[in-house]
Amino acid sequence: MNGRRIAAVAAVTLAVALAACAPPDQNGDTVTVPSVVPAPAALEASGAAPFALTAATSVTGDPDAVSALAGLIGARTGMTPAGTGPAIELRIDPSTDSGTEAAAESYRIVAGEASVAVTGADAAGLFYGVQTLGQLISRDGEGWSIPAVRIDDAPRFAYRGVMLDVARHFHGVDTVKAYIDRAVTLKFNALHLHLSDDQAWRLHLDSRPELTAVTAGNAIGGDPGGFFTKSDYAELVAYASARHMIVVPEFDTPGHTHAVGLAYPELVEAPVLSEHIAEVVRVYGGDLPTAGEPYQGMAVGFSSLRIHDEATYDFLADVFGELAAMTPGPYLHVGGDEALGTDPADFAHFMERVTTLVERLGKTPVAWHEAGSAPGLAPTTVGQYWGFVTPTDGMDDKARAFVAHGAGLILSPADAIYLDMKHSADSPLGLTWANGVTSVERAYAWEPSDVIAGIDDADILGVEAPMWTETIRDLGDIDEMAFPRIAAAAEAGWSPATGTGGLRTWESFRTRVGALGPLWTSLGIAFHPSTEIPWEHE
Ligand code: ACM
Repeated sequence: MNGRRIAAVAAVTLAVALAACAPPDQNGDTVTVPSVVPAPAALEASGAAPFALTAATSVTGDPDAVSALAGLIGARTGMTPAGTGPAIELRIDPSTDSGTEAAAESYRIVAGEASVAVTGADAAGLFYGVQTLGQLISRDGEGWSIPAVRIDDAPRFAYRGVMLDVARHFHGVDTVKAYIDRAVTLKFNALHLHLSDDQAWRLHLDSRPELTAVTAGNAIGGDPGGFFTKSDYAELVAYASARHMIVVPEFDTPGHTHAVGLAYPELVEAPVLSEHIAEVVRVYGGDLPTAGEPYQGMAVGFSSLRIHDEATYDFLADVFGELAAMTPGPYLHVGGDEALGTDPADFAHFMERVTTLVERLGKTPVAWHEAGSAPGLAPTTVGQYWGFVTPTDGMDDKARAFVAHGAGLILSPADAIYLDMKHSADSPLGLTWANGVTSVERAYAWEPSDVIAGIDDADILGVEAPMWTETIRDLGDIDEMAFPRIAAAAEAGWSPATGTGGLRTWESFRTRVGALGPLWTSLGIAFHPSTEIPWEHE
């Protein structure tokens, strides 16, 4: 994936977008711009007669895309078009009108009264074209139609992620699949699974079976636990891959490892009980962490692997080695956040060793931005920034270090797109530490190239929206917290930069998201009905 190339393509297509928004038609009437989220690079709506979608419509072409579109049409309209009437044609063609090769993941839609053609540069591009088409289907009297449009679209960033924490509360295979289904409708292409934390280890490994055997029954608040078998994990990887998504698995180290000490006490230090830990216990209740006892609270930053013991690195070789063998995607996430129980020099030594290990396994390490403080980090290590939109406490310096040694950055500004921040003060779901209570507008009103001074599109691998699950127990909770803010993260990752076109404004976004309400409902998404959004109802 090449962020620089994608950025160049987006800049070219943007020029089309600037000329294309909401022109008057031949009679001088304003043409309604169809609602697409994330905003496409270029969209032209002519106001001409739409395509009537009926049971007699024929859907032909690439079989995977035909099946994906049939699912969306079925969910949205209840119809199974299988006729021989006017056609929707879905195909892959890597060439452009000018004969050059189209950008990875790009697509074009040309829709008119007689036909609809969706052309993807590759299978992923066609899949995203189908997702856009699903959003274009609208009620037309008693029937359904697709407006007359031309869309030329390509992603701004190569990496567009969602993260699900399955450690604080376990979320099983069906829930993770449902989250994948939801995320791909917004053109996300990476699922980061946070597989271990102080409470539990959630992926069975043959090399270290005690990790799940001893810890996986635990969860925050004494809630039920669980874990993925290796075959569950393989099923999720395959499910994601069939939807053009990679899985980025994380074992968080050297902090967030209290659970490791339940299974292998010789590998961890005693908990460091700082004033911060005491404060969390005062506010949220629960017990202080105790060596060898399952931890069911919400405090962070008290646990550490032993840094100067070779047994730790034997452990890392086992767990990351087995994970690498199970993971076809290019990335393994090694954590590195909030290692407050680890001496800073030890932390730097540890991050050098763990990232070098992952690199030697043939994978690209990813680490939270704190690891940027380690001078000897493996040079390919990608950083993940989780500070605020306006950086504090030198977090931007740590993030910049990844770019200085030649790798990229994933942006997850916590006060914008941490999806677990509370949307309402009185909701039992979510936390507030990242400038919460938050809003949809806050999730939208940031620009990736403005977060870290000196870091622009060429240095940014992409955008990821994390969902931490201290308070989040099931798919209904995930839906309520993720939607609609997840759509803002999708737009930051896919669409042209803010301020570069009519669609990339808060006013346009809230209107377009509102129009997706009926589709989300038909897909079974229990979104939070935020009053910031003018929801459409059918
Ligand atoms: C984090 O939120 N500790 C990455």
